[in-house]
Amino acid sequence: MTLGALSALTADQQAIQQLAREFAEREIAPDAATWDREAFFDPALVVKLGGVGFLGMLLPEEYGGLGLDTLSYLVALEEIAAADASAAVLMSVHNSLPTQMILQFGSEEQKHRFLPPMARGELLGAFALSEAGSGSDAASMHTQAVRDGEAEGAWILDGTKSWVSAGSHAGVVVVLARTDEPQMRRGARGISAFIVTPDLPGFRVGRKEDKMGLRASPTVQLVFDQLRVPAGRLIGGEGMGFVYAMQSLVHGRLGIAAQATGIARRALELSVAYACERHQFGRPIREFEAIQFKLADMAVRVHASRALLHTAAAAKDRGVDVTAHASMAKLLASETAMWATTQAIQIFGGYGYIKDYPVERLFRDAKVTEIYEGTSEIQRVIISRALTHP
Ligand code: CAA
Repeated sequence: MTLGALSALTADQQAIQQLAREFAEREIAPDAATWDREAFFDPALVVKLGGVGFLGMLLPEEYGGLGLDTLSYLVALEEIAAADASAAVLMSVHNSLPTQMILQFGSEEQKHRFLPPMARGELLGAFALSEAGSGSDAASMHTQAVRDGEAEGAWILDGTKSWVSAGSHAGVVVVLARTDEPQMRRGARGISAFIVTPDLPGFRVGRKEDKMGLRASPTVQLVFDQLRVPAGRLIGGEGMGFVYAMQSLVHGRLGIAAQATGIARRALELSVAYACERHQFGRPIREFEAIQFKLADMAVRVHASRALLHTAAAAKDRGVDVTAHASMAKLLASETAMWATTQAIQIFGGYGYIKDYPVERLFRDAKVTEIYEGTSEIQRVIISRALTHP
């Protein structure tokens, strides 16, 4: 008797899954522990991910993408995350946030200029929303853009963004900034989105964070000092940036749910293998009920997380508004990842607590899935709002 994933995937989706699994095992898994230990981000990985099309999975073919459905993308992402959560966040942020912001709300000129090199992995995308004092309350940001009096359509950008994944290696950064007047603030409706590139004078990479997990994914501050954003870089309408960001974060949260599912699944796979090989009291520890129950509960939660995620993704592809379902998928998967990696360490015992075995890394990587792209508390707010203010 086996307990594989109950797959409702099409033959094409299964082919993407297989491609992603082989890619992850060949190009990522062998180096993941070293990258984590050395907090090393390998730019060659971006080129390789671009080479197999994984940085343009959701982009139409006319913009150089694979034109795939959301479910195919998430299935691939789970495979990458099972090998290395740092590689997965790079892929998730790039596909879900900056490329989606440009694809859904950008001009044709912006799409043709930026999306093809982003799909090829020549320009890595980053998303700059949060600030030191503006996290869950994203609309309270201070970064300011004012019209450049000397050049029609250009803006002058000032401020510092925090927690920017891969901001140090990005070729395109979608930046959210206030465009309302300081004396006439308009809250969430006073925020606009801009395409910023690191070649612009006034762009500087600030502090790199020394993180608990996801150590191979650089997280940095980005500092904009009187940065002149050229004409043609405002995405969509002035004052619409926050709404666009929230819509893109629906994609983003599905991506983080896939990442968390990949981490939890890996914890389960490693725990099953260890329970079969580890002997205590003259027997493999899989014969003890205490271990069996842990493995069973882990399997239930991994399958439930994946099922909710895939249901939400399929509905999104049918055009349904899945804002609350994306939050539910992220909430369940991230709490499953944290819980399952904790169980894995318990099963491994002392060996789970040292860096020679991979479950310790999974545990550290899992934690942030409960924090970024909206904390578990914010996901609960969004779900509750959908229930009480439909
Ligand atoms: N789709 C469309 N519009 C939306 C929307 C959505 N999903 N969510 C909100 N809006 C609209 C609202 O309708 C509202 O529009 P009106 O002005 O017309 O009324 C406007 O946006 C403001 O919405 P709210 O009043 O709900 O805004 P709020 O200030 O109460 O905040 C929140 C809501 C859900 C708490 C939001 O601030 C939030 O999601 N916070 C978490 C921030 C977050 O997820 N950060 C992630 C950082 S990115 C990251 O982590 C990437 C990485 O590198 C890993």
